[in-house]
Amino acid sequence: MELLRSPAEMHRWRAGVRGMVGFVPTMGYLHEGHLSLVRLSRQRDDVTVASIFVNPTQFGPNEDFERYPRDEARDLALLEAEGVHAVYLPSVAAMYPPGYQTYVTVEELSKRLEGAARPGHFRGVATVVTKLFGAVQPHRAYFGKKDAQQLRLIRRMVRDLDLPVEIVAGETVREPDGLAMSSRNVYLAPDERAIAPLLYRGLCAARDAFIAGERDAERLRAIVREVVGQEPRIALEYVSVADDETLEEIEGRVERPALLSLAARIGSTRLIDNVELAP
Ligand code: PAF
Repeated sequence: MELLRSPAEMHRWRAGVRGMVGFVPTMGYLHEGHLSLVRLSRQRDDVTVASIFVNPTQFGPNEDFERYPRDEARDLALLEAEGVHAVYLPSVAAMYPPGYQTYVTVEELSKRLEGAARPGHFRGVATVVTKLFGAVQPHRAYFGKKDAQQLRLIRRMVRDLDLPVEIVAGETVREPDGLAMSSRNVYLAPDERAIAPLLYRGLCAARDAFIAGERDAERLRAIVREVVGQEPRIALEYVSVADDETLEEIEGRVERPALLSLAARIGSTRLIDNVELAP
């Protein structure tokens, strides 16, 4: 497994690679969600590249960039065991050298939901993903459905900028009790971890109601709030029923594919989750 630690090293290695290249961008501290994306690429592509880069430009000033969990040795062992061909691990200095001043903004999709809660977050994501695509030059790139807005934003960006990359979505991988896997789950204290599955339970209750015929968007949001509201230690930030592509909030009836999503704080940990609603 090749380790490439700068854009120049990646370009040199990439110039000698033949066949379909699949790419799994990550911020490390890998879990089954990441590894399921790696496996998708290993099945479909000739060469699989993963990246590990905790991207400072997608963290706000009061967010967890410094304390974001990191374990490079463990991550590399996991990727090697999956048969990954190369890992791109650029330093912050190599990605954003002095004088750096170019950013990518996906205008509308960046403003809603997570974008409203985390100003600048998606500008950082769009910028780093563009840079990673530039270095790795993948034919396909794999993103998890758990970060639903990120997935839609990257699809939009790839279309808008004519980037020759196919975006492949991987299913959200969950713990046996339903909690969506996330590197940030490690922040949860045991009593917080015990109540965290209520988020997915709330989403499932609303999705069940939808499947049974409930089409009123506000009623679906209310079902999530009722279930999650049983636990006063969970602070819901938002519950959204939005158009599946534009993420515009739906008022009235849900007659087209929609994304039911939420963000919540448990203690100091901020978690997101979602399910798709298909009429
Ligand atoms: O989903 C993530 O881990 C990150 O947002 C990504 C896509 C690797 C960009 O830093």
